[in-house]
Amino acid sequence: MKILVTGGAGYIASHTNVELLNAGYEVVVLDNLCNSSEESIRRVEKLTGKKITFYKIDMIDKEAMDAMFKKEKPDAVIHFAGLKAVGESCEYPLMYFNNNLIGTLNLLSVMDKYAVRKLVFSSSATVYGFQTKMPINEEASLSATNPYGRTKLMIEDMLRDIYKADNSWDIAILRYFNPIGAHISGEIGEDPKGIPNNLVPYIAKVAIGELEKVHVFGNDYNTPDGTGVRDYIHVVDLALGHIKAIEKLNENPGLVTYNLGTGQGYSVLELIKSYEKACGKTIPYVIDARRPGDCDMVYSDPSKAKAELGWEATRGVEQMCEDSWRWQSKNPNGYRGC
Ligand code: NAD
Ligand code: WQD
Repeated sequence: MKILVTGGAGYIASHTNVELLNAGYEVVVLDNLCNSSEESIRRVEKLTGKKITFYKIDMIDKEAMDAMFKKEKPDAVIHFAGLKAVGESCEYPLMYFNNNLIGTLNLLSVMDKYAVRKLVFSSSATVYGFQTKMPINEEASLSATNPYGRTKLMIEDMLRDIYKADNSWDIAILRYFNPIGAHISGEIGEDPKGIPNNLVPYIAKVAIGELEKVHVFGNDYNTPDGTGVRDYIHVVDLALGHIKAIEKLNENPGLVTYNLGTGQGYSVLELIKSYEKACGKTIPYVIDARRPGDCDMVYSDPSKAKAELGWEATRGVEQMCEDSWRWQSKNPNGYRGC
């Protein structure tokens, strides 16, 4: 079975490509490399001993996508491509709407034209907006709190409408919680450009000595130690969830939606402690003001994915930090210079 992976050079996709190739799928990658490097594809090929067909295409270029579909005729698509920085999306909403929405519209139109109607979509826990009741299950209300989140919600809505109009589509919407960690080999991992926005990549840069200290955004939340609590999930567990989702699509389920999380919350300070253990160094930190838009606790109810996909996360926070550190210490400059 041939899978087209959009955004296939990126962080979550590169880990998914390893699992797809190991499971015997053929992988075609489409990426414009705006937030990634072709080196990740070479590393995945090295890790698996298998080849990836790579197209450097921007999803905004519908004609290029059309030509690629005509040539490759994929059986299904895993759609990771998109811009994902919340703060940047507040500054440049049009850029986010153009890239994520128009890009996805182009993809869906081309899929429809070539009758490729099996899709796994990278959604996010961000579509739950602010919730007071934890854990969050798939029935919770949906809302957007920033332009990035709005693109995820709008794409989900588009997919629900498309399915309503034509139930020959099979669509798995996967709502990720907080993906962290790296492949156990230390060969692939998260390679953020510039100063990281997310907690664990930031901690990793402090551990390697590139940044001075972690800024903890608030210690007056309604949580056990006052710092924000999130549902961190190992990127390899997340990748394996995509294999299960592809298997599910082959059973023609229609449109299905799953949370991919562990169901457990960890605080910022717990993460720092765990990372210290993993890297054997002290991670300096200061308590700063809350980051606007953050909430105290977010964690998933992942039981639907367990019941219907036979998937559950098995890697704990210690392994997430150990694997993150292995990647960071083996590749202090990420993929740059390769
Ligand atoms: P990433 O930036 O590493 O990967 C996204 C990839 O898409 C990059 O390789 C980028 O170059 C590519 N891309 C972006 N716009 C494109 C375009 N117009 N045409 C072609 N390629 C394009 O991000 P990631 O963390 O691997 O995230 C993958 C997906 O998962 C994204 O859709 C993201 O919104 C979603 N997601 C991520 C997280 C997270 O915390 N990392 C959480 C929830 C959901
Ligand atoms: C985690 C915790 C911060 C950085 C974001 C997106 C979400 C999803 C995943 C894509 C929070 C605290 C952070 C720092 C800190 N992405 N923190 N110092 O905000 O839960 O989710 O990524 O869909 O949509 O919003 O992740 O890693 O930024 O923050 O104290 O330097 O760490 O306040 O409690 P978040 P995060």
